[in-house]
Amino acid sequence: MKHTAIINLDAPGPEISKHIYGHFSEHLGNCIYGGFYVGEDSPVPNVRGMRKDVIEAFKRINIPNLRWPGGCFADEYHWMDGIGPKTSRPEMINTHWGGVVENNHFGTHEFLDLCELLETEPYITGNLGSGSVQEMSQWIEYMTFDGKSPMTELRKKNGREKPWKVKYWGLGNENWGCGGNMTAQFYADQAKRYGTYCRSYGDNKLYKIACGANSIEYDWTETIMRNLVACPTGNCPADRFIKGISLHYYTIAGDWNNKGSALDDQEEKWLALMKKSCYVDALIARHKSIMDYYDPKKKIDLLFDEWGTWHDVEEGTNPGFLFQQNTIRDALVASVHFDIFHKHADRIHMTNIAQAVNVLQAPVLIQDNKLILTPTYHVFEMNKGHHDAVNLPVYMNEDIPKAEFESESFSTLSLSASRKSGHYLVSLSNIDYTKDQNVSIDLRGAEVRKITGRILSAAKHNSHNSADKPNEVVPVAFTDFKLNNGAVKLTIPAHSFITLDLD
Ligand code: AHR
Repeated sequence: MKHTAIINLDAPGPEISKHIYGHFSEHLGNCIYGGFYVGEDSPVPNVRGMRKDVIEAFKRINIPNLRWPGGCFADEYHWMDGIGPKTSRPEMINTHWGGVVENNHFGTHEFLDLCELLETEPYITGNLGSGSVQEMSQWIEYMTFDGKSPMTELRKKNGREKPWKVKYWGLGNENWGCGGNMTAQFYADQAKRYGTYCRSYGDNKLYKIACGANSIEYDWTETIMRNLVACPTGNCPADRFIKGISLHYYTIAGDWNNKGSALDDQEEKWLALMKKSCYVDALIARHKSIMDYYDPKKKIDLLFDEWGTWHDVEEGTNPGFLFQQNTIRDALVASVHFDIFHKHADRIHMTNIAQAVNVLQAPVLIQDNKLILTPTYHVFEMNKGHHDAVNLPVYMNEDIPKAEFESESFSTLSLSASRKSGHYLVSLSNIDYTKDQNVSIDLRGAEVRKITGRILSAAKHNSHNSADKPNEVVPVAFTDFKLNNGAVKLTIPAHSFITLDLD
């Protein structure tokens, strides 16, 4: 049998930043309220209002960062409404998401407290759409300044003596759409202006992130790079205005008006979703080519800070809450995305699945007050070994099996590998709808003595975990492989994800 793939275990490669495994929490549906936050008086076990079980679940997957407060909510959020005694915080309507009352009980102090409990880095998106330059500037001062100023006095009055560390700072969200419907040129000028007053206080060095493109809007990336990164005099650092640019792309099985159910098990929707997941490789490559032109030394990072499946909302739920179930199909969308993100680790510094709890492709769902770990969660857990590891190039045989959808073909086997401290992790996804695949991987450049395998598979195409059956789709040990003459051979069942730990 010809080898399906070759991995050079001793090859150099870029580091897969742990931030590629990042998360996103918006004031949307039950992500914050009812998801992360239930309030101190809740019968649900909590620490200062944060759900203990949710915190523990995310700590188990070493959550590297958490993006907040949106999303579209970010450009309508006025941070001063969310500080001070909870009883005097104003109530407002969350006009963007479901028209529900937002009581502002979860604000700056609560979010940064949550990040400390999760031991994760905050990533805050400032309001560039409807907020003022002064408001954004003062928010940073309030959180990160250690000197004497009205903002630090206010912070202390509200119970926090020492400043927090906040590194990742978003200059607005989707400003081509919900964040103000701006043109790229107008946004670039605004980002420069707002960014000027986003100060790095003391050793809190801000990492400013410009709002990036929607999917294939390559002109947006071009305009941002030309205006905020290119140096006409040839004598200025590429990262003088921003350190990163974002990108948003959601995976949809149909079109925006008819996305299809999260529990759809038909081949057509399966193929559509898998093809669109594989397409992310070309999407990133094209945005990178624009970035490479203006920034050949790769000083500016790409942050894919919203991605994931977007299905029709679950029947009977508030359409503005974006609640959807999560099946083995979603898990494979995630594993394919991670393979692609690893491959582009030379430019991608961070990605954030949308969203952490109860919204879109959530790793964690709360149903009947019980915490459910979705199949997507298990992919994050199984891939933990890739955090901050060296990405290893994978050479795939050109005749690996393909599937076709709407006259375009894509490979049904996806693979990535990394090395960390003399240990290797290989991730394999079989995204074929029905066929098992025989795989042989030639492992070169180091002697492998021991392999430990795990598999995430499912009986049906829409198998998922629920409050009644929380363990329908969980990883189990996988031992059905042979290691011979430096090659590992195995059969990966249809619609399955396998990780191999090599020593
Ligand atoms: O994640 C849901 C929404 O999708 C976000 O608020 C917005 O940024 C994107 O359009």
